[in-house]
Amino acid sequence: MRILVLGSGGREHAIGWKISQSEKLEKLFIAPGNGGTQDLGENLNLSVGDFESIKKAVIQEKIDMLVVGPEDPLVQGIRDFFEKDPQTKDLKIIGPGAAGAQLEGSKDFSKSFMQRHGIPTAKHATFQLSGLQDGQAFLSQLKPPYVLKADGLAAGKGVLILENLEEARTELANMLQGKFGKASERVVIEEYLDGIECSVFVLTDGKDYLILPEAKDYKRIGEGDTGLNTGGMGAISPVPFADDSFMKKVEEQIVKPSVQGLANEKIPYTGFLFIGLMAVEGNPYVIEYNVRMGDPETEVVMPRIQNDLVELLSAAAEGRLGQENLETNPETAATLMMVSGGYPEAYEKEKEISGLDQVEDSLVFHAGTKLDQGKLLTAGGRVLAITSFGKDHKEALSKSYANARRIQFDKAYYRKDLGFDLD
Ligand code: AMP
Ligand code: GLY
Repeated sequence: MRILVLGSGGREHAIGWKISQSEKLEKLFIAPGNGGTQDLGENLNLSVGDFESIKKAVIQEKIDMLVVGPEDPLVQGIRDFFEKDPQTKDLKIIGPGAAGAQLEGSKDFSKSFMQRHGIPTAKHATFQLSGLQDGQAFLSQLKPPYVLKADGLAAGKGVLILENLEEARTELANMLQGKFGKASERVVIEEYLDGIECSVFVLTDGKDYLILPEAKDYKRIGEGDTGLNTGGMGAISPVPFADDSFMKKVEEQIVKPSVQGLANEKIPYTGFLFIGLMAVEGNPYVIEYNVRMGDPETEVVMPRIQNDLVELLSAAAEGRLGQENLETNPETAATLMMVSGGYPEAYEKEKEISGLDQVEDSLVFHAGTKLDQGKLLTAGGRVLAITSFGKDHKEALSKSYANARRIQFDKAYYRKDLGFDLD
């Protein structure tokens, strides 16, 4: 099979790495890929939003399967684009159409969907500019902290959590007046959930599903979960508190009604569904849906899957996932993200990376790198994800930390405290 993975981060490197182990693979392409993915296959210099150019490559390279890494092209309807074109209608696509992608593309849609299907989530109300006063009155009825969410995609920055009522009322006005552009034309105000977070991943064909290994990611830049939110500074799988009884609740109360709800609403869905959960006193509540895998969670989830990924993806694309069983490595996988100094604010790029040849007993997934005349350079905020296995998260992390010390680039930064909240 000839497979194209769309995207350029650690997630796409980890998916490509797993695909490259399949006996069913004939050739792997990654678009645009990075300095690491080019060791797995051929990087194609295409933008993930340029559907016409992707189509040309699909036809020219006789691609059989397209695996869409990030959410943007899904929300923009890449699946619908290929399905309606007679030249590409047989392409197998991993990722939902625009209708299903609304689960991530619109917080209001996803909250209403959860309500319609009785899926546990924080209470909410949605407002637009004409309802600003109602929104401010609604805030006054809630207890702090106040959670304000831009309805649309805002590159992970569209959620504000505020302690002070006046500030929340002001920020609601700012958001509705364009703080996040079109994404915050509507704002979801939601009850605050006090608990511990966990990410659950599902692969579904719209009818059956497999629950992939769950993971916990560390979103904040600073130690002790302080400072700005990032794309993710590290991840651990399995999650110690997500025991069998918790995961049973997740399956019965969340995964089954989500997949069934999509089917009942006649929304076809082939691909990954990422459910961001808050565990509150042992009960799961949905914080958000994403219609793709997480990053850096993929860098621990893929290494724990023992099945042939191409077989699982083919089964999903052909609607026969019900015949598949997931096999997972019971050991703990942990990934540590090395980032450019300054990230998630301004940072410099094009720093030479050295020491990768010294790495022992870890996998290194490239998140933001590029090869330039034989030199490996930084090319993003998140640069490398170092994944290791161990009998528990401490052992796994100690290997990743030992390897991080062997890798150098100017102003490299990583958190030294991953797993601090799991003891
Ligand atoms: P989201 O983009 O919806 O995942 O929100 C970003 C982050 O804000 C989440 O990962 C949580 O840490 C936090 N968050 C979102 N909604 C809530 C909520 N209702 N209660 C508490 N924390 C929340
Ligand atoms: N690590 C969180 C995400 O991928 O959205």
